[in-house]
Amino acid sequence: MKLERLKLYNFKNYAEAEMNFEGSIHCFYGKNASGKTNILDAIHYLGFTKSYFTGGDKPTIRFGEENFSITGRFTTPTGVTENIKVSLKSPGQKKVSRNDKDYQRFSDHIGQFPVVMISPSDSDLINNGSEVRRKYFDSVISQFDATYLENLIRYNKALSHRNRLLKIMKDKRMQNRAQLEVWDQQLMEYAVAIFEKRVEYNKLFSKHHAEMHSRLTDETEIASVEYDSSLMENDMKSLLDESFQSDLQAGFTTKGVHRDDYFFYINEHRARRYASQGQQKSYLLALKMAQYMITNEKTGHKPILLFDDVFDKLDPFRVQMMIKMLCQDPFGQVFITDTHKLRIEDIIGAVSPIQLFKVENGTVKADE
Ligand SMILES: Nc1ncnc2c1ncn2[C@@H]1O[C@H](COP(=O)(O)OP(=O)(O)O)[C@@H](O)[C@H]1O
Ligand SMILES: [Mg+2]
Repeated sequence: MKLERLKLYNFKNYAEAEMNFEGSIHCFYGKNASGKTNILDAIHYLGFTKSYFTGGDKPTIRFGEENFSITGRFTTPTGVTENIKVSLKSPGQKKVSRNDKDYQRFSDHIGQFPVVMISPSDSDLINNGSEVRRKYFDSVISQFDATYLENLIRYNKALSHRNRLLKIMKDKRMQNRAQLEVWDQQLMEYAVAIFEKRVEYNKLFSKHHAEMHSRLTDETEIASVEYDSSLMENDMKSLLDESFQSDLQAGFTTKGVHRDDYFFYINEHRARRYASQGQQKSYLLALKMAQYMITNEKTGHKPILLFDDVFDKLDPFRVQMMIKMLCQDPFGQVFITDTHKLRIEDIIGAVSPIQLFKVENGTVKADE
């Protein structure tokens, strides 16, 4: 799957822009706040129907405007053209279409045009709470396992019903275990399905991640991703039974797969506490490359890779090693942003043909 043309209309700081892509590696250069990251985010929208950076669609409408659209023309490996359009008509009326046909459910689109974003904000995965990591792994899995996504949505619905009842019981200082029964049943059913898939995919993820990490660090370090869930020792029923009193006190469900976490280790030490900035960066890069490999394996599509300012702090040798790897199978199209044109030309251009775009104040222009 290759993106051949991208059109933006009232998207963030772009009034109107159009780009045509040739070759496989495309680089955007320009000053800070000129609009480089916004282009990558637009491509992310085409794959995931939403922004990588902002929650909700409203912040992406150009200031003072009422709607935006992003249109992408893709070609498949067999030469078929696919037009994807994401548009928003205020207020909150989002449409996603494929070849002019609107999707009824956006989740049907997820995974058809996969993308992998690599950004400096990925450090949140190491430094923030468990929710960020759960959401990340859930979104990776959802790109290729629709049943998983369905189960997750159903689990979360049952959970919010149960939490609402617990909150009422807490406020009214009453308890009625039987009232929760219907939601307990659902949580039990979906928790098992979610747990089993997380275990399965974590094994696959760990395998790819360890390989990538050792490649990126010249085999000097061993890295692992470990999945942690209270369902490893208990079944959901006993967890709900045992925590009923503490759930009542809290006013929400304290145990279950919604509290799972993933632990990141480098040489058996927790990355958050012991790894240097450089080590964390390699770890996260390997994580995203593992995401790439799994998505490729499971969907049969080559995801589009988006590198946002990532080569900024890697040494030139490592950047060239990365680019050489990206020029080989199973990698496909790559988009890169950087503040320095010369750095792109000298380092990336030395090992691969590249297409350069100058970004300036909400305009994009291909270099002559
Ligand atoms: N909804 C919006 N409307 C207009 N401008 C926006 C909107 N959202 C973000 N911007 C602007 O986009 C610019 C940042 O673009 P970005 O792509 O992050 O720059 P960079 O080239 O540094 O990656 C900022 O100047 C910001 O104010
Ligand atoms: Mg940027």
